[in-house]
Amino acid sequence: MVQATPFLLVLFLALGAHSLPAKKCSLTGRWINDLGSNMTISPVNANGDFAGSYHTAVSATSNEIKLSPLKGSMQKSPNQKGQPTFGFTVNWSFSDSITVFTGQCFVDDDGNEVLKTMWLLRSRVENIKNDWKATRVGINVFTRL
Ligand code: BTN
Repeated sequence: MVQATPFLLVLFLALGAHSLPAKKCSLTGRWINDLGSNMTISPVNANGDFAGSYHTAVSATSNEIKLSPLKGSMQKSPNQKGQPTFGFTVNWSFSDSITVFTGQCFVDDDGNEVLKTMWLLRSRVENIKNDWKATRVGINVFTRL
């Protein structure tokens, strides 16, 4: 019985841990990505809409980088289980381009929130013949600042 006690204690704690509510991932706040770009997301409203600002560390242009507005939408379905999918658009204030991001807000194994995203950057081109080279695609990973 004495030997069984520590085993039962560990079993109890292991089973009990499963009944604890899992940490949820929230979009609101300040984030930095793998390129060093920063963004701030304001509180998400009841419809899942949100706004914010984006300071990119890099640009496809030679223009001076400026803070740019973003608008987005987060999925509110009950199936999201605290790790919601979302999308947002950055309307660059210093170039003719637009970027759309889509992603999911995760809580990783260490309990840290992380935004895994993919993006499409649409640049303006002078004519339809150049359309083929107007869109870049990539991945960004954001962590909380
Ligand atoms: C432009 O170059 O016309 C605007 C800036 C684009 C910055 C891109 S958007 C995708 C990628 N992720 C970033 O944080 N910055 C670049």
